[in-house]
Amino acid sequence: MSNEASLFHHPDRNLALELVRATEAAAIRAVPWIGKGDKNAADGAAVDAMRAFLATVDFDGVIVIGEGEKDEAPMLFNGERVGSGNGPACDIAVDPIDGTSLTAAGRSHALSVLAVSDRGTMLDASSVFYMDKIVTGPAGRGVVDIRKPIGENIRAYAAAIGKDVADVRVAVLDRPRHEQLIADIRAAGAGTRLILDGDVAGGINAARHDSRIDMCVGIGGSPEGITTACAVKALGGFMQGRLAPKDDEERARGAAAGLDVDAVLELEDMVRGDNTFFVATGVTDGALVAGVKREGDYITTESVVLRSKSGTLRRVQAEHLASKWLDED
Ligand code: FBP
Repeated sequence: MSNEASLFHHPDRNLALELVRATEAAAIRAVPWIGKGDKNAADGAAVDAMRAFLATVDFDGVIVIGEGEKDEAPMLFNGERVGSGNGPACDIAVDPIDGTSLTAAGRSHALSVLAVSDRGTMLDASSVFYMDKIVTGPAGRGVVDIRKPIGENIRAYAAAIGKDVADVRVAVLDRPRHEQLIADIRAAGAGTRLILDGDVAGGINAARHDSRIDMCVGIGGSPEGITTACAVKALGGFMQGRLAPKDDEERARGAAAGLDVDAVLELEDMVRGDNTFFVATGVTDGALVAGVKREGDYITTESVVLRSKSGTLRRVQAEHLASKWLDED
């Protein structure tokens, strides 16, 4: 049966269209904390809202990528069961706010994010905090390789997408650890787009066909890496990762958790199969989605909803009656 026919005969429900309510809620609840300098309060408000909405969705979810271990994160901790318990058995990655510091500072590009895949398919990389990543659009497959020097990758990708190297734009987190990487990108003749925080959005923009970013590289959080992988799968993009333990102790912890800390992780190693869902709602304005806006009696949200099985990206624009949401109203 062709792909199209199989979609027609097995019209599975698009879970992400229900899950978007949870990222919308998290983004709305974070609004009072935008620019207030308290990233934990912003995150806490988003976590509470996301958890409450997840409980109403008919699925049997286990958090694989969450807010940390049970004792440090009272809610949405790794291993927590979420959802009504009825319906499909799923792995969940949550990032109620990717860009807590951006939110606290009142800066752009903060997102509320959620990803879902079939039970047992998401890599639990939480024992190693950082991951080196490279993300491009579909043309990067068989062309780009994280083992190669960045200049070589940029030249190969530029040729694959028919661009001059000088026009290639590479997103990278602006961190001291990336000093050499940034110098190498520029030495190759490409331009950097330095991001303060939020490499999930950076990765998604690199994988998308109509963004200003061609490639996203460098070391960011490994939970964010797995979450990004769910989105990149749905976008048909290319991504590789490699865990980046800070020291021998973390390396040993990763190995004890069954992770091959030196392996190059392909997309399929980060999230197996072809049934991933990814949703993101803008907290503050960004290149991917607009942030939450208050307009008179309404709050508007913008989200993207991605599904790998169908290869769709939907934009969901919602208007919410403010009186139903904000405690101070
Ligand atoms: P938080 O919102 O959880 O603080 O994460 C923001 C972020 O920029 C991620 O997008 C990125 O993967 C990670 O932090 C990078 O970590 P670090 O700030 O330690 O370099």
